[in-house]
Amino acid sequence: MKLKNQVAVVTGAGRNIGEEIAKLFAAEGAKVAVVDIDRPRGARVVAGIRAGGGEAELFPADVSNGGDVAAVVAAVVERFGRIDVLVNNVAISDNKHIFDISEEEWDRVMAVTLKSQFLMGKHVGLQMAKQGTGGRIINIGSTSGFMGRSRALAYSAAKGGVANLTRSMAAQLAPHKIRVNAIVPNKIGSPVGKDEFDPTRPVPNMAKRPGQPQEAAKAVLFLASEDSSFVYGANLFVDGGVSAMDLS
Ligand SMILES: NC(=O)c1ccc[n+]([C@@H]2O[C@H](COP(=O)([O-])OP(=O)(O)OC[C@H]3O[C@@H](n4cnc5c(N)ncnc54)[C@H](O)[C@@H]3O)[C@@H](O)[C@H]2O)c1
Repeated sequence: MKLKNQVAVVTGAGRNIGEEIAKLFAAEGAKVAVVDIDRPRGARVVAGIRAGGGEAELFPADVSNGGDVAAVVAAVVERFGRIDVLVNNVAISDNKHIFDISEEEWDRVMAVTLKSQFLMGKHVGLQMAKQGTGGRIINIGSTSGFMGRSRALAYSAAKGGVANLTRSMAAQLAPHKIRVNAIVPNKIGSPVGKDEFDPTRPVPNMAKRPGQPQEAAKAVLFLASEDSSFVYGANLFVDGGVSAMDLS
């Protein structure tokens, strides 16, 4: 087991990629704090982990809110005693053109997709630094942060921010033995904000198929475990190779 007796916080663990990360971490021996704004979704994941013999607890919260984040981190430490791993998985998309997106929509997408990673990273990072034994933080980015998007504006700006937030967090937290990295997914499971997954949907990547949420979870496990002990500040593409392709 790669995370035996470690405490892991996974945000947005109520479905799709976050759900599979929480399940895989629990199967690898972690005590998992399932954080989600949607209580029924989170409760379903916790029940599933417990039914399989794993350890998990639900912490409902809006991770874009500093008060919620401080309270959740305190509650996790109260329940499990420490935090060893944080996965910043929550995001929402705007799917809008610059002429159509409102100021409020821009602010909400930036707050949920980018600011939440800063807030969780700060509060969990402080806790890890206090513990003195280090930790790992994994931010979930997107290929949208590495290219212009005709159908999403704030989301691609926020994910571009995630790529460099990851590098700066890595540089600032390395002296505290906290390793920070990111994965960069593309077309994995259902689209962000959606429930439906069509595994037969044609996708123009090298794998010629969409990714499974479990495939993202395995990459996150690598970054959360000692297997990645020399990896710092990386943006690891888990995208079926689409970012490496010549699409002309
Ligand atoms: N699905 C993809 O194809 C894909 C592609 C690229 C990147 N990603 C990234 O992977 C991550 C997960 O994506 P997904 O498709 O699994 O997302 P999803 O929309 O399926 O699930 C997100 C979860 O986060 C929760 N959530 C939303 N706002 C929240 C908030 N403010 N506070 C707490 N919880 C909140 C939702 O209730 C939901 O359970 C995201 O960072 C996303 O940008 C996904």
